[in-house]
Amino acid sequence: MELRHLRYFVTVVEEQSITKAAEKLCIAQPPLSRQIQKLEEELGILLFERGSRPVRTTDAGQFFYQHAVQILTHTAQATSMAKRISSINMIIRIGYVSSLLYALLPQIIYLFRHNNPDIQVELIEYGTKDQIEALKLGKIDLGFGRLRISDPAIKRILLRKEKLKLAIHKNHHLTEYVHIGIYLSQIIDESIFSYPATQKPNFSTLIQSIFTELGLVPKNMIEVREIHMALGLVSSGEGVCIIPESASDIGMKNLVYIPILDMEAYSPISLAVRNMDQSPYLSKVLECVKQVFEEEGIAFQFEGYQGNTA
Ligand code: BEZ
Repeated sequence: MELRHLRYFVTVVEEQSITKAAEKLCIAQPPLSRQIQKLEEELGILLFERGSRPVRTTDAGQFFYQHAVQILTHTAQATSMAKRISSINMIIRIGYVSSLLYALLPQIIYLFRHNNPDIQVELIEYGTKDQIEALKLGKIDLGFGRLRISDPAIKRILLRKEKLKLAIHKNHHLTEYVHIGIYLSQIIDESIFSYPATQKPNFSTLIQSIFTELGLVPKNMIEVREIHMALGLVSSGEGVCIIPESASDIGMKNLVYIPILDMEAYSPISLAVRNMDQSPYLSKVLECVKQVFEEEGIAFQFEGYQGNTA
């Protein structure tokens, strides 16, 4: 059995479809089906229930899946650790969601580079969900994201909860709330632009879930491709949009920003790493986060982190 067979099997289980798995793996469907069949023959067990749509694992298949994920994760970890140990110029690959570029990510990375001149930093943009996959495959060593996604192979450290703001045109009828703040229940009749229009879950899902948590149903949510589009439409006098506080620095003309007062209205900023990762980089990165938070007067939480940041 080769590792790629385990990867094929895990992808089929996660996508619950041979077609989608084949697309994701960039191979044709018939060879993928054949490889799965060969794997079943080699193991002498049925991994999937015959004829099930979406594809469902048997009990034995589910057991095998959990162990296959562990094997792949351990292999990725071992490879990435071994590469790191063998390289003189060390590289750390950091996944990030693009909206964090408006938050404190640039300051944190700048500080990390300054404090660790021997370590090369490679920044790679990935949605929070894709970061999980990238971590498991060893494509990145850590990932900064905004969603509450959990996965048994990944440890997530909550760094802080960023407040949300409502972006409106400076002549909008809600401007009277700019200094006092507003509750989401006050905007359900507005046209609200949400973003991005990428694979879910994403920031748009987070906003939806906050409304749901508050028992609110906005009348008109319109999904657009990305934050600049949402702000541009608001700036042209159409609707409103909810953004992380830091994105108000984007500086689009004629916009003003209202603090959202609901406790539930925040975007978690977290750091994800492979569960067993003992990398010394983690504490070095967290030290930089801590230092930047101190400079900015932000209380650090680091929920889920057991190590030390000096
Ligand atoms: C922040 O804005 O809090 C932040 C952004 C990126 C990485 C870590 C923290």
